[in-house]
Amino acid sequence: ARQFRELNMRYTCAIREVKTKLEVLNDDLAIRNQRNPIQMIKSRVKKPESIIEKLHRRGFPISVKSVRENLYDVAGIRVICSFVDDIYTVAEMLARQDDINVLMVKDYIRCPKVNGYRSYHIIIDYTVNTIKGPKTLSAEIQIRTMAMNFWATIEHSLQYKYKEHIPDYVQQKLIDASRAIIEIDKAMSDVRDEIMDAQNSHQKKENLIKDILNNIQNLYKVANKREVT
Ligand code: GTP
Ligand code: MG
Repeated sequence: ARQFRELNMRYTCAIREVKTKLEVLNDDLAIRNQRNPIQMIKSRVKKPESIIEKLHRRGFPISVKSVRENLYDVAGIRVICSFVDDIYTVAEMLARQDDINVLMVKDYIRCPKVNGYRSYHIIIDYTVNTIKGPKTLSAEIQIRTMAMNFWATIEHSLQYKYKEHIPDYVQQKLIDASRAIIEIDKAMSDVRDEIMDAQNSHQKKENLIKDILNNIQNLYKVANKREVT
C-alpha cells in the first residue's frame, strides 16, 4: 500500500510538471498570436480501485511495476482549446520539447470513433526526479475543443447511466450531434479568421495614417508653410 501511495504521488508530480509546461506554452503562444490557444486544463490521477480493476480486466499482474509498464492513463491531463488548429499547435509544440517523449498518438479528430467521439490523444513518457533518482512515467494527454468536450462529457455520462448499452436512437442522436459539432468548430474558426482579418486591416490603416502624419511633420522641417499646406 505504501508503494502504491508513493507511485500515486509520483504521477501527481508528473502531472504538475507537464501542466506547467502547457501553461508556459500557452503564455508563449499568447504573445505570438495575441490570444490564448488553451482555454482550460484539467487533470486527474486514476483511483487505486480503477487501476486494479483495469489491470485485472486486461490480465496484467497487480504490482507497482505492472502499473508503470502496462497502464498509460494513470496520469490524465485534458487540454481544452477554442479552435481545432490550436489543438495541433499545442500538440506539436509539446512533442517538440526534449524532455517529453511521445509514445503514441491517436487522432480521433481526423479519424473519429464510430460513436462520434472526437479528441486528440497523446501518450507520453516523462521523467520525474525523486529522492530515489529519476523515474519515468507515462501520461495520457487529451486535447479537444470546447465543443468536442461538451459532446464527450454528455456521452460519457450516458455511458455511465446505460452501462455501455446506450439505446440505438440515442446513439444516432449522438452521431448527429457529433456532425453538428464539426460544423460548429468550422464556423467558429471562420469567424475568428474574419476577426483577425479585420484587426489586421485596421492595423494597416492605422500604420498608414501614422506614416502620413510623420511625413507631414518632416516636411515642416524642410519646406515653407505654403508648400506644406
Ligand atoms: P481505455 O481502456 O478506455 O483507456 O481505451 P484505450 O486504451 O483504447 O484508449 P482510447 O484512446 O480509446 O481512450 C482513452 C480515453 O479517451 C478514455 O479513457 C476516455 O477518457 C476517452 N475516450 C475514448 N473514447 C471515448 C468515447 O467514446 N467517449 C468518451 N466520452 N470518451 C472517450
Ligand atoms: Mg483510459
